[in-house]
Amino acid sequence: MTDFSSVEGKVAIVTGAADGLGKAIALCYAENGMKVIVSDINADKGLGVVQDIITGGGEAVFFKTDVSLEEDVRGLIDFAVTTYGRLDGIVNNAGISADSRPIHEYSIEEFDKITAIDLKGVFMGMKFGIEAILKSKSPGGFVINVASLAGIMGNSAMAIYTSSKHGVVGLTKSAALDYAAYNITVNAICPGTIRTSIWRDAPEEVVQQYANILSPNGRLGDPKEVAHVALFLASDLARYISGSAIPVDAGAHVGKVTPTKWSHPEILN
Ligand SMILES: NC(=O)c1ccc[n+]([C@@H]2O[C@H](COP(=O)([O-])OP(=O)(O)OC[C@H]3O[C@@H](n4cnc5c(N)ncnc54)[C@H](O)[C@@H]3O)[C@@H](O)[C@H]2O)c1
Repeated sequence: MTDFSSVEGKVAIVTGAADGLGKAIALCYAENGMKVIVSDINADKGLGVVQDIITGGGEAVFFKTDVSLEEDVRGLIDFAVTTYGRLDGIVNNAGISADSRPIHEYSIEEFDKITAIDLKGVFMGMKFGIEAILKSKSPGGFVINVASLAGIMGNSAMAIYTSSKHGVVGLTKSAALDYAAYNITVNAICPGTIRTSIWRDAPEEVVQQYANILSPNGRLGDPKEVAHVALFLASDLARYISGSAIPVDAGAHVGKVTPTKWSHPEILN
């Protein structure tokens, strides 16, 4: 049986952890014995996640952070180190999507707003987080950046988000080389289409239509399917993996599915 117990006691920050993928990662980390700093701009929901973790017997604290603000990110890292005396890892997950539009219809203000959170926020989480991990002399230090399929593929009508996520993959690859000799792995997770808050209010038939188009297996991903990859990357089982941008997308990044009529469908009977 594969043993994930190497994560027990590791101290990790998860940004954007009040909802969606960040929440799933925070819950999964705590279930596996990690000490989690739940960080989000939304304090009510973030405190709710901490409560869920504590009720489930895990260990977590909350720190309100807007990842686009330097003083908030510095404060978050200081809080983690003051609370737990060390930092082993950071998951830079907080991110927002942009309205779908062609480039000439985007405003400069939209560019600044999206990149401040989706790219500069990740840079700052890495910069201050890695400083703390180095000072902690963590034997199993890790950085996980939640990018997107938009970090490795083009996307029509999503140029700002796509360029930010490509930037996140670039930060990941460069930092992997910077810190390879210092016991810190740096990887990106590139989710495809995962069922988070963006789909919450959509009717099920609309969700299914999108799943048929965007996902080769015809369903949206579950946040837990991303969290399990984040758990593996935080564990010592993944110490030889760094600089990777790992798609979690049922294969969407490798090409399009074309409908095919099988000659022998009875093989499935
Ligand atoms: N859900 C998907 O299909 C999908 C696909 C690809 C990539 N992603 C990426 O995954 C990450 C999480 O997305 P999600 O679907 O869970 O979104 P979500 O909206 O469900 O959750 C995002 C969380 O980030 C928080 N947040 C927003 N702005 C913030 C800020 N400035 N500072 C701190 N926290 C902030 C929100 O309050 C929220 O709790 C994002 O980086 C997103 O780009 C998601």
